[in-house]
Amino acid sequence: MIKQAIIPLAGLGTRLLPLTSVLPKELLPINGKPGLEYILEEGINAGIKEFIFIISNKKKEIKKYFYNDSFYKKIIKKNNKDKRLKLEFSKIRKYKKIIKFVYQNVPRGTGDAVLKCKNYIKSEYFLMFLPDDLIIKNNCSQSMIKLHKKYKSSVIASKKVKKKDVSRWGIFNLKKYNKNSFLIKDVIEKPSLKNAPSNYAVIGRYILPKKIFKILQNQKPGQNGEIHITDAIKTLIDKKEKFIGHVFSGKYLDCGTMKGYINSSIEISKL
Ligand code: G1P
Repeated sequence: MIKQAIIPLAGLGTRLLPLTSVLPKELLPINGKPGLEYILEEGINAGIKEFIFIISNKKKEIKKYFYNDSFYKKIIKKNNKDKRLKLEFSKIRKYKKIIKFVYQNVPRGTGDAVLKCKNYIKSEYFLMFLPDDLIIKNNCSQSMIKLHKKYKSSVIASKKVKKKDVSRWGIFNLKKYNKNSFLIKDVIEKPSLKNAPSNYAVIGRYILPKKIFKILQNQKPGQNGEIHITDAIKTLIDKKEKFIGHVFSGKYLDCGTMKGYINSSIEISKL
């Protein structure tokens, strides 16, 4: 059973400057609430019972936002008629119970962020969300968990992207099973068009095995001196660990760039 999810949140958010010079990008409102709350809702609806947020000293506002029950308590004491306040209060209280925080103060890559959760993961597999990637209209985590049960394997979300855009993504080398799943033979981080083995991209939902921690512990830094999760996944595939790709049916919104962020508000407001 997959009951725990981790979310790396220590990134600097430079693609969303100037907003991110004062506010973590994951708290920027998308149609009235932080992008991160959409991800929490997806996880909760897929049966996740505990979330581990990997933040940094520079992004403590995230903890403040989700642990701010005393703030609501105080104002509700003065005004206990406001229904919206009460609703927000009960939501925050629920979140506080299921979110834990760990710290990654030096941004050394997604693999390094994952490693910070090593002592908290209890079961054989866990889910990881990348907070820039919102998926609406269909619960991607839920369908990935179904595939995980069917194949008893790791699962990564995927989407077909335009050939000219492959160098923005992790790209799969794959063997197609059917319309919504494939066997992952390899994954290459941001390849050139010439070196891309397909145009199926990695999207930020991963069901990973606990054994990835051991791989990450011994992994040397890769591109830009960072510890990449993609490199650890490659090592596991070489060691014959089974990874399935899931071509999800929901709508993907890229909130990691200014253009995508603006568009995500428009798309969500239409729901
Ligand atoms: C990360 C991953 C990449 C993946 C992408 C999905 O890249 O490294 O493999 O395709 O997320 O959003 P980033 O967006 O951090 O550059």
